[in-house]
Amino acid sequence: MAIFLTGSTGYIGAHVAANLLEGHGASLNVLVRARDPQEAQLRLWRALQMHLDFPRFFEYLQTKVRIFCGDLTSTGFGLGRDEYDRLVHTTDSVIHCAASLNRKSEKSCLNVNLRGTLEVLTLARQAEHYHGLRRFSEVSTVAVAGKRSNEVVTEDRSIEWDRSDYDPYARTKKFCEHMTRVLLPDTPKTVFRPSIVLGDSRHAETTQFDMVKAFVFLAGLPALPFRPNDKIDIVNVDFVADAIATLHQKDQPQYDTYHLSSGTGSQTFRELTTALAAAQQKRSPVFLPFAEKPFSGSVNFLSNRKGAMAKGASLMKVFMPYLVWNTVFDNTRVTSELKRKPVPFSQYSFPLLKFSRENNFEYNYKPWPAAAGGTAA
Ligand SMILES: NC(=O)c1ccc[n+]([C@@H]2O[C@H](COP(=O)([O-])OP(=O)(O)OC[C@H]3O[C@@H](n4cnc5c(N)ncnc54)[C@H](OP(=O)(O)O)[C@@H]3O)[C@@H](O)[C@H]2O)c1
Repeated sequence: MAIFLTGSTGYIGAHVAANLLEGHGASLNVLVRARDPQEAQLRLWRALQMHLDFPRFFEYLQTKVRIFCGDLTSTGFGLGRDEYDRLVHTTDSVIHCAASLNRKSEKSCLNVNLRGTLEVLTLARQAEHYHGLRRFSEVSTVAVAGKRSNEVVTEDRSIEWDRSDYDPYARTKKFCEHMTRVLLPDTPKTVFRPSIVLGDSRHAETTQFDMVKAFVFLAGLPALPFRPNDKIDIVNVDFVADAIATLHQKDQPQYDTYHLSSGTGSQTFRELTTALAAAQQKRSPVFLPFAEKPFSGSVNFLSNRKGAMAKGASLMKVFMPYLVWNTVFDNTRVTSELKRKPVPFSQYSFPLLKFSRENNFEYNYKPWPAAAGGTAA
């Protein structure tokens, strides 16, 4: 039997897959979008190569990982009947990590997050019906807390249905949590809500550059339109993946919902910029909180232009509400249960930004080794 993991080709999902394989000896059924098994293997290799060398990856492919080529937005993931049955009958728990993070697209969030999660829940209900489901873990987000200002939010006070959301992503993820609770009433469930997941504290390499680009954009400005003592809740991906894998594998986690965040230990803009400036032997930027409105106007203007600046501005536009809300997410549950804390962003931000800049915000993927046995193109 295996854990059905969605989103294994994504940033967090790949970290979770590697953690489950290396740290827990787990077997995985993974859903991968691809035209054929060869392409799926190659996509999985690209996702996991930051974590595993090829021989180890290939060994896992032979022994512990079964790939299902499918799409969340197709009925039954678009799998044939036999393949779908095989997935149902070999799945004893689920970690649903795939999502659309396209905050601007109602359509994409509707299709991937709502319709997709309904497909995963349908699969989970069938597995539950035939042989029982040990646990269903839903990877959600702190964004389900909706519009906030100057708060420390606890897990139980996060979802308030009368509150507005910043974007379609937050709204659909909130409903995914709700669907999970309603449609799997008797299954043990865990909801994980990461905050801003940015970088791996163990090394500079990353495959996910959106948020890094937004930070590089900000780091290049001599003046920032923020209040210097506002906190920003950033968490390292290795902490997030370890928490998801460990709590999913635990017999009885203490809670059904966890913020995977830095909580009240989150750093302020001043702490972050001071550390970054020191690492680069540069001057710290000045803070001009009253300039938030004109700054947002300039960001809007720049985001409609062309070029690298426009890309950074466009990303800033999307992330801006999450930078100025001065809201953090209490992490007492996860830190006390796991007896570890996230690494402060200032401790690993400079190598991350340096790696990203030097590599032009691209990860240099290794190809499938020509000499290797196996089938990938
Ligand atoms: N990154 C953050 O800062 C953050 C913060 C809070 C919560 N989260 C949550 O963490 C989870 C993972 O986020 P991430 O940052 O790892 O995102 P990501 O890198 O964009 O990965 C998304 C994953 O979902 C898969 N996916 C998307 N549409 C699909 C579809 N139609 N069918 C099958 N798979 C599909 C992607 O597959 P392809 O490779 O084929 O595209 C990819 O594996 C999400 O649930 C997100 O809401 C993330």
